[in-house]
Amino acid sequence: KGKGKVNWVCNECGYSDGQWWGSCRECNAAGTMTRFSEGNSSVSVSEAASASWLPQHAGEVRPLRLTDVSRGVSRPDWRIPLYGPFGNEVSRVLGGGLVPGSLVLVGGDPGVGKSTLLLQIAALIAEGHNLGQPAPVVYVSGEESVEQIGNRADRLTIGTDEIFLYSSTDVEDILAKLQPLSPRVLIIDSIQTVYLKGVIGSAGGISQVKECTSALLRFAKKTDIPVLLIGHVTKSGEIAGPRVLEHIVDVVLYMEGEKCSSHRLLRSVKNRFGSTDELGVLEMSQSGLQAVSNPSEMFLSEQCTDSEFLAGLAVAVIMDGSRAFLIEIQALCASGSTTSRQVNGIQASRADMIIAVLTKQAGLKLQDNAVFLNVVSGVTLTETAGDLAVAAAICSSFLEFPIPNSIAFIGEVGLGGELRTVPRMEKRVGTLAKLGYKKCIVPKSAEKSLGSQVFEGLEVIGCRNLKEVINNVF
Ligand code: TYD
Ligand code: MG
Repeated sequence: KGKGKVNWVCNECGYSDGQWWGSCRECNAAGTMTRFSEGNSSVSVSEAASASWLPQHAGEVRPLRLTDVSRGVSRPDWRIPLYGPFGNEVSRVLGGGLVPGSLVLVGGDPGVGKSTLLLQIAALIAEGHNLGQPAPVVYVSGEESVEQIGNRADRLTIGTDEIFLYSSTDVEDILAKLQPLSPRVLIIDSIQTVYLKGVIGSAGGISQVKECTSALLRFAKKTDIPVLLIGHVTKSGEIAGPRVLEHIVDVVLYMEGEKCSSHRLLRSVKNRFGSTDELGVLEMSQSGLQAVSNPSEMFLSEQCTDSEFLAGLAVAVIMDGSRAFLIEIQALCASGSTTSRQVNGIQASRADMIIAVLTKQAGLKLQDNAVFLNVVSGVTLTETAGDLAVAAAICSSFLEFPIPNSIAFIGEVGLGGELRTVPRMEKRVGTLAKLGYKKCIVPKSAEKSLGSQVFEGLEVIGCRNLKEVINNVF
């Protein structure tokens, strides 16, 4: 084949380049690069342009002078904002928006809502509310037919004509077909269904998944088109799952949620462009994922916001990433025939320790009681910051004294019944103040870290040990 020289020229500013780009490297206009060839070229579009991101042959790669290295994006801080029905949650988890040329992996259990989230993101960009003008988005699915995706779009009331659906599993074919569209974003659902010709193994196998991801990474970097990948995590921890991709991609987000709850958490596990401390809180509704109006309170039950107080309930404040959540601990002490202990959502050994401390150091006669403990909403308490609330819930049930629902408890309980401070006291107490709580019991030593800060409407009570807590509350 005779190879004529191929040039890609921007319709807007005339910038010319030896290869195709998603947006012009000079004026940043999207989709303006047009192909021109000199002489009688028989080079096909896919050969000329795709070749550079497909696995390279030995000999083609050579060391480059530092000064010859192209620096890529001319606006390194520029991000595509993703403000939508889910508020700013997704943008925040990404570190402030989608970075052009980034490769983002969205992992999660099957059925958690990954396809829904990415279709909603596709719609946001395609409709152009955030960018100012509509832009094409390509959504490739190897899992579902275009009709199925169309049905989902109907349920989500997405009606833009800038989303292009493509059902394909051949990476080379996908990259070639999307070129004439010059999309703003490419979405691949899922990485386990695509394959690359010439790579050994079946789709979903470890070498296919790795090679396809690497090819898509090169594509993203060279064209500045961000690529969003969906990856399934199976409960068995499948070897070719997204975990092996974590070091290839720029950003890894995991979507979590319980089958019986509509809440979804979007966690940033790795982010080359932002903090991994962010946590997005979303809710799956009839019309897709939405923002949650008051995330800190989402794990509280109805009783807790009612005026009727029940004995055996205490509120704790736990941290997840940079976010504070209020959770509700329930205790039931029943005197009678059994002395069994059942705990749900709390480490059994921790619960045993707190019960022993209450018996020995605070004089509660728990030894003749059966004690049941539960964390409402299926949350698992992993922090010692919840110790004090567990102790308070047990006291409340044992003494049959309901704790007013405007009091919360933060602190770790030691073997001597002493209270110890926990990290991020300020954030926890601040959240309570914002939600209108009246009293907060904290370890005496935490008062220092809270300094002279005043939390409006909230009385912060420092206690040295469990006895002081009981004297203060009960
Ligand atoms: P899906 O996005 O297909 O999950 P994944 O791609 O992670 O496998 O959606 C999962 C579930 O969400 C599905 O059981 C139906 C439900 N769903 C809603 O509740 N509301 C909606 O608007 C949509 C589109 C889906
Ligand atoms: Mg899916």
